[in-house]
Amino acid sequence: IKKVGILAIEIVVPSRCVDQADLEIHDGVSKGKYTIGLGQERMAFCSDREDVVSLSLTAVSLLMQRTKTSYSNIGRLEVGTETPIDKSKSIKSILMRLFDNCNNVEGVDSTNACYGGTAALFNSIAWLESSAWDGRLAIVVAADVATYARGTARPTGGAGAVALLLGPNAPLVLDRGLRASHMNDTYDFYKGDMGTNYPTVDGKLSIRCYFEALYNCYYLYRNRFLKKFSDTDNSKSNNQSPKSILQQFDAIVFHSPYGKLVRKAFTWLLLHDVQLDAKCYENEPDLLKYVNSDISVNMLSDLGVIKDTEKLFKKLTSPTQKLPKNIGNMYTASIFSGLISYLLSKPTNEMAGKQIAMFSFGSGMCSSFYSITIRPGAKLESLINLLQHIPVMLENRQCTSTVEFENTLTNRELAYNKAPFEPTSDVDNLFSDSWYLTHIDSTFKRYYARK
Ligand code: ACO
Repeated sequence: IKKVGILAIEIVVPSRCVDQADLEIHDGVSKGKYTIGLGQERMAFCSDREDVVSLSLTAVSLLMQRTKTSYSNIGRLEVGTETPIDKSKSIKSILMRLFDNCNNVEGVDSTNACYGGTAALFNSIAWLESSAWDGRLAIVVAADVATYARGTARPTGGAGAVALLLGPNAPLVLDRGLRASHMNDTYDFYKGDMGTNYPTVDGKLSIRCYFEALYNCYYLYRNRFLKKFSDTDNSKSNNQSPKSILQQFDAIVFHSPYGKLVRKAFTWLLLHDVQLDAKCYENEPDLLKYVNSDISVNMLSDLGVIKDTEKLFKKLTSPTQKLPKNIGNMYTASIFSGLISYLLSKPTNEMAGKQIAMFSFGSGMCSSFYSITIRPGAKLESLINLLQHIPVMLENRQCTSTVEFENTLTNRELAYNKAPFEPTSDVDNLFSDSWYLTHIDSTFKRYYARK
């Protein structure tokens, strides 16, 4: 067993964001609707110099630079995205410009709403474990620009790119044989209208799909776990009530369209777990009382239910929310921003052996539940050290006026699918080392440069 998993992580966000409290005023909604009602703090958005390609170019080049990895040591590169810029040419192929003469690199793009990054991750892990593996490393990029038409969905946008360096003997190992998926044909969120960069979205349906997927994935994951460890005692504790599969996790990371949904998703999962494994909650009367309840979506907003689930939420999922709340929905990259938040939430020496559950959801719909173990004895420091700049980067963003945010989105709307196109915003506003769009020529070829 090669202990295949994540060796290093890089995240890139646009240099500008908008404050959700300011947006409440701008949109004329009641105070607290976006900050408490949706649970969001800030939302990243792109200037006309930034797009899904520029973010991906920056993420990969910084990952390579900071980990001192040679491009010749990359055998596979995949991109997960739902931000289409070309109906044929992959974003992966544009990233090949970074590779000079190292062209022997497998992989293309994966698309299905917010799930593409997970699909890319699973594919690359499979390559690393397969007979096709040639000893080199893999990179997965999850990148998106999430914007919605004016209306209730707009405050749930965001933008960013995460690049993962994958290989053997990793500090973050994907647990083998422990993965479950739920896939179905739904039209809760889709981009069938090629004339716009905005999705068609049925928000309430998308939330129902998310909960359906979560329960089904966890149920199947739990079955796999029980089957795999049927011969062993899966309880970590002695002389105490046994632990459910859910209780054994040290963190649960959810795909995060917005903070409130993650809070509800946690409650949904926990209440179902109480019903699946009631004996594990015998010492938890606040939770055991739900053993025969009819768990409904409405119940997840009930203050009593929120209070009863708060202790475990704070322990398991709250530490995964800092980045998603501050960046917004990065679609495919969102789940990995939750993972980064968790890795930054505790001292490195407390991390060994921790097991992290991951729930990935993409409308339409594709979803998976899997887990990652922080391998005891692995060199975690270098991975964590690479993440230390992130809180500073988030603080160094320029928080713009809501008018500038609206104008930028309107200009992007007008520029969508237009060629030739010359961006006008100032390159000086971008973070140093950023790649940016210089222009699109009359035949839709895109040109980028590095600051
Ligand atoms: N103070 C505090 N809370 C408030 C306030 C206020 N002033 N005003 C409203 N709220 C609460 C509401 O009570 C509600 O809480 P609840 O969820 O506990 O019931 C919450 O804010 C949201 O308000 P709603 O009116 O129910 O929803 P809204 O019409 O604003 O739409 C939605 C929210 C559906 C999430 C919309 O933003 C959307 O469509 N987003 C895109 C789709 C999406 O993200 N789906 C998630 C999964 S798919 C994906 O990842 C893309």
